[in-house]
Amino acid sequence: MAKIICSGIAKSYGNVEVVRDFNLDIEDKEFVVFLGPSGSGKSTILRMIAGLEEISGGVLKIGEKDVTHLPPKDRGVAMVFQNYALYPHMNVYDNIAFGLKRLKMPAAEIKQKVDNVVEMLGLQAFLKQKPSQLSGGQQQRVAIGRAMIKTPEVFLFDEPLSNLDAKLRHALRKEIHQLHKRIDTTTVYVTHDQSEAMALADRIVLLESGNIEQVGSPTEIFNYPRTRFVADFIGSPSMNFIEGQIVKTDNGYRFKGADFDMALDESLYDDLQQGAVTLGIRPVHMQLSDDDAINGEVIDLEYLGNENSLTIKLGGQEIVAVLPEGISPKVGAKISLTAPQDKLHLFVNDVNLYRVGA
Ligand SMILES: Nc1ncnc2c1ncn2[C@@H]1O[C@H](COP(=O)(O)OP(=O)(O)OP(=O)(O)O)[C@@H](O)[C@H]1O
Ligand SMILES: [Mg+2]
Repeated sequence: MAKIICSGIAKSYGNVEVVRDFNLDIEDKEFVVFLGPSGSGKSTILRMIAGLEEISGGVLKIGEKDVTHLPPKDRGVAMVFQNYALYPHMNVYDNIAFGLKRLKMPAAEIKQKVDNVVEMLGLQAFLKQKPSQLSGGQQQRVAIGRAMIKTPEVFLFDEPLSNLDAKLRHALRKEIHQLHKRIDTTTVYVTHDQSEAMALADRIVLLESGNIEQVGSPTEIFNYPRTRFVADFIGSPSMNFIEGQIVKTDNGYRFKGADFDMALDESLYDDLQQGAVTLGIRPVHMQLSDDDAINGEVIDLEYLGNENSLTIKLGGQEIVAVLPEGISPKVGAKISLTAPQDKLHLFVNDVNLYRVGA
C-alpha cells in the first residue's frame, strides 16, 4: 500500500520560491502524470518525492509514513530518468542485478528476480550485451528493469522517453502502460508531452509556474479545461480562440465576433452574462454548416491521411479546422463552419464558464 500525500509542499532555491503550497493526494496504485511547460516545476516536485531534492516546507507522506526528511533509500521509491545512466562495462543481466547484489542477496534469489523482470520487459535475448550494443529503447527498458528489481512501492519517471524517436516512444509508452496494469505500483510520471499524458494517466496534474492549474482524468481535462491555459495546453492541434461578445437578443444569447455570429445554448451554462468573452473551439470539433455561423476563407489545406487540416482566415485571425478527408475545399474558397453547442468553451478572464454537468 503506497498512497502519496503532499501537504503544503514548498521549494525555494535561495530567495526564489519555485513551488508554493503544493497539495495532492495520490491514491495507492494510481498512475499520475505531472504535465506542464518547461520550468513549471515537474521535476522539482518529483525529485522532492524521491528525496533527491530537499523539501523547504510542508509534509510528504508515502504509505502513511512521514518521509519529508528521510533519505531516498528509506522511501521505497525507484526512479527512472531521461538520461538513464547504465553501467557501460556491465552487461544487461549485471546492470539489472546490481542493486540486489549490493544488498548481498543470495545469487539464486537474484537470478529468479532478474529472470522475472527480464521476461516482463522482453529483454531475454540481450542479457549478455553491454549497453553500447543496445538501441535507445532497449537501454531504456534495462533502466526500467533496474528500477523494478527492488519491487518499489512507488515508481517515479522523469521524461523517460524523450530521448527516443517517435515510433519507439510510442511503443515504449504502451509497454509502460501495460507494465503498470500488471504490477500495479503507484506511479508518478513527468512529461511535457500532452499526448503521452493523455495516453498514460489515471489523473493528470497540470502545472504552471509551480502551481496546479487543474487535476483531473484525461477526459475531464480535455472536455472541461478550467482555464484558457489548460485548454491551450491540451489537445493537438491546439484549441482555436476567438475574441468577441456575448449578446442577449430577443431569441436568446449569441456569441458575436468578427465574421462570426452564433447562438449559444443558455441551458448549458450556469451563468451566462453579456460582455467580453473568448470563444474556444477545438479544431476537431469544427463541422461544415449550411447556415452561416462562421464564415471564413480557406488559406491552407494539409492532407493528414484520413482527415484534412484546414487553416481558415476569419475576421483578421486564422483558425484551424480538422475535417474528414472527403471535405477538401480549394484554397481561396469561402467556407461556413459551426460546432456542436456542447463543444464550445466560453472564457471570461481566462476562466472557463462553469458548465452544467461538468
Ligand atoms: N538548482 C536550482 N537552482 C535554482 N533554480 C532551480 C534549480 N533547479 C530548478 N530551478 C528552477 O525551478 C523551476 C522549475 O524547474 P523544474 O526543473 O522543476 O522544471 P520542469 O517543469 O521539470 O521543466 P522541464 O520540462 O524543462 O524539465 C525553474 O524555473 C528552474 O529554473
Ligand atoms: Mg524536468
